[in-house]
Amino acid sequence: MPQDTALYLQIANQIGTPVYVYEQAKIVERINRLKEAFKNLPFQLHYAMKANEHPEILKIILKNGLGVDAVSVNEIKQALSVGFDHKDIIYTPSCPSKKDLDFALAKGIHLHIGATEYFDYLLQHYPQTAIGLRINPDTHIAGNQKIATAHQGSKFGIPVSQLPVIKKYIKAGLKIDSLHLHTGSDVKTWHDLARSAEVLLDFAQNFSSLKYIDLGSGFKVKYHPNDTEIDLQAYAKFLQKALKSFKYDVQIKFEPGKFLVSEAGSLLVKTNIVKQGFYKKFVGVNSGFHHLIRPMYYNAYHHITNLSNPSAATEKYDVVGVLCEEDTFAYNRFLSPVKAGDILRIHNAGAYGYVMASHYNLHILPAQVLIEGNTFRKI
Ligand SMILES: Cc1ncc(COP(=O)(O)O)c(C=O)c1O
Repeated sequence: MPQDTALYLQIANQIGTPVYVYEQAKIVERINRLKEAFKNLPFQLHYAMKANEHPEILKIILKNGLGVDAVSVNEIKQALSVGFDHKDIIYTPSCPSKKDLDFALAKGIHLHIGATEYFDYLLQHYPQTAIGLRINPDTHIAGNQKIATAHQGSKFGIPVSQLPVIKKYIKAGLKIDSLHLHTGSDVKTWHDLARSAEVLLDFAQNFSSLKYIDLGSGFKVKYHPNDTEIDLQAYAKFLQKALKSFKYDVQIKFEPGKFLVSEAGSLLVKTNIVKQGFYKKFVGVNSGFHHLIRPMYYNAYHHITNLSNPSAATEKYDVVGVLCEEDTFAYNRFLSPVKAGDILRIHNAGAYGYVMASHYNLHILPAQVLIEGNTFRKI
């Protein structure tokens, strides 16, 4: 039995299921991969903590020298409480209240605002504070449209077409020191990221006072074995060239979320029953979309392995949960034969897993465990 299978089974036995398991070493390895890929750029990484905001995960991020990107007041509070300096937190809210803005600005946290409709308020109450603008570059991507955030129909960002409005407010005294965009989270190729970056860099020529340009994320991970990861080297090369011909000196920021934590996390579930339907077999596990919503909400593929049965033979199942409606982790999935009591590992669940979980049907939330070296602890 592979070493990690034995460890995961031990965790399932000792802690119980369902349980999220995160591997510290994998997070560090992913951080280092990004650092290596962009080493020839003047860049900073801000972990998009929405992907997984557990304090123990944030501590790993902090220890490795990254900042964070927060999307809500409570995320800011969490980052501060873990020890992030306010200067290393950027705040990129969607449709925030004025009270939310007040909280962040009073803490000296840099704001990326995504609508010109906030300008009057900001100018009136924070005339001395330089802000960042989240721009919508009008980039269409081929991936999942629920997480495509830079096209014309998206609620996110200030449309590039509103440049005249921005210029009017700059004349009135609005201080802008950064531009931001996020193309989406299911970007199939680096070319889509490059198209967005090209639009933003062109747009940025209108601003002489920029400290940085934030290109968001879009660093896809391999969910399906046939998926390809974003070609980071090609993207980095493109950016290096683009920055050479850019007329101002700016830093680049990136906001990776799932790239850092997704593959480091798994959800372990126990098989309650294997049942025969009319024409298919169901594996019913002690979890559901209330614990991991990605398969149902995004039609996301998550690889599943039967830790309790290492045999190579496979059978076809739908892997389903305990909820009162369609609640399927995988359709027509080949697994090594499953029996009641078997522990299944749902892979690649470290991002947008526990953080999107709920108590639906009054089920309890899974436990969470961190593996550090050869040891693990409940977190
Ligand atoms: C503004 C912003 N930055 C970064 C991210 C992180 O994206 P990902 O998890 O795909 O890296 C998101 C995701 O929604 C986002 O909205």
